[in-house]
Amino acid sequence: MTMRKVITYGSFDLFHEGHYRLLQRAKDLGDYLIVGVTTERYDESRGKMNVVDSLMDRIENVRKTGFADEIIIEDHVGQKTEDIIKYGVDVFTVGSDWTGVFDYLKDYCEVVYLERTKDISSTMLRARKYNIIRLGIIGTGRIASRMIPEVKYVSGINADAVYNPHVESAKRFAEHFEMNKYTDNLEEFFEEVDAVYIASPHETHYDYIKNAIEHKKHVLCEKPMVLQKKQAEELYQMAEEKEVVLMEAIKTAYCPGFNQLISVIRSGAIGNVCDVEACFTKLENPLNRELTDTVYGGSFTELGSYTLLPIIKILGTDYKEMEFKCQKAANGLDIYTKVYFTYEKALATSKNGLGVKSEGQLIVSGTRGYILVDAPWWKTTSFEVRYEDSSQNEKYFSKFLKDGLRYEIGDFVSSINGFGEKKFKLTRKESIAMAEVMEKFMEYRNNEEGL
Ligand code: CTP
Repeated sequence: MTMRKVITYGSFDLFHEGHYRLLQRAKDLGDYLIVGVTTERYDESRGKMNVVDSLMDRIENVRKTGFADEIIIEDHVGQKTEDIIKYGVDVFTVGSDWTGVFDYLKDYCEVVYLERTKDISSTMLRARKYNIIRLGIIGTGRIASRMIPEVKYVSGINADAVYNPHVESAKRFAEHFEMNKYTDNLEEFFEEVDAVYIASPHETHYDYIKNAIEHKKHVLCEKPMVLQKKQAEELYQMAEEKEVVLMEAIKTAYCPGFNQLISVIRSGAIGNVCDVEACFTKLENPLNRELTDTVYGGSFTELGSYTLLPIIKILGTDYKEMEFKCQKAANGLDIYTKVYFTYEKALATSKNGLGVKSEGQLIVSGTRGYILVDAPWWKTTSFEVRYEDSSQNEKYFSKFLKDGLRYEIGDFVSSINGFGEKKFKLTRKESIAMAEVMEKFMEYRNNEEGL
């Protein structure tokens, strides 16, 4: 008699009774059980954030049950069909929470949905293990509105309260997003939350961050976090002393595609990097704060954090020279700014425009080849590694779901709960270096005559 092969898949995070019972019954469906365990990257790309256990631990937990005859790793969409053909699978099975979803596999094998075990899930365990973080929002502008729907995709955090010195704005925001609490009183606000997301105008960030840290609240702050190196250093130091997380919210730094790009470059795929060129432009409404606030507005304070990110991430913080050039509007604000960096063995350019339009691409050039990240590169949904011999070119694709803020929130939650990756996506040193560039730019702009 031929062997009946069964296959099942899952994250198997914080291994629980539901997983055990599923594997037990899956094994009973045949003679040989293959279990596919998802990688973190795959989970992230399908919107499942904050998986606590490492892939190795999750595999080990599946192994320990003794039900799996073979354990494989699931890392991409479409793999299930491939595996079924490759391993000659007879039965595909998953829990009843997926009923119907995998009917398309019936062309390849039998599909069985097993009754899900009641009242237990990894999501529940994660919530129990780590109290749900109560997030407070400071500032109620456009970016804050984009944040709230994204928070809902991340388990372990809930947007509870909103603060705005204009209580009417806070009230409108809270009602719109069905939040529990709104206030114009900071003391009251801090009592209601464990962590804050700061999305107020740039110049107010420093005071809010300081105040929040003094109240022992974790902080996720919109970019540019501060506009002076000293302030950045002081705040990171304070956060360390008070044992709270302080993170600068540059969404690109946390998204899957950009992190893959950095890994590909570090692996040496294009040799030694000789040049980084990053461009971000936006046709902004001329009446908006970005083009009317003559002290803190302008293209570089608005977009510079993005274009500096790949430069500093790839080439580091030790540049030898930095030169600014801008074109200014009648009100003195820079509508177009270029920054030229000279490193010991590389050059870099950051190009920023508000009210000026150009191709939003990132090009990283090296001694073996170059990488072209398609516009808009700050979402990094695709990039191509290109060589002299173009038959060697390789294209990479990544997810950037909706507004992409869920990735930074996911990292924020992981940092607060003390698990997950170390902070290499955007280090303290890199964030401080960016504040220094901002500071030098403000000095330059104030001293320069308009073009
Ligand atoms: N499963 C089950 N009973 C449960 C929980 C999960 O039968 N109470 C099954 C799922 O249907 C799936 C497998 O276990 O076939 C692995 O699921 P996974 O997504 O890892 O577990 P969940 O606990 O559902 O995870 P999460 O809460 O993160 O979605």
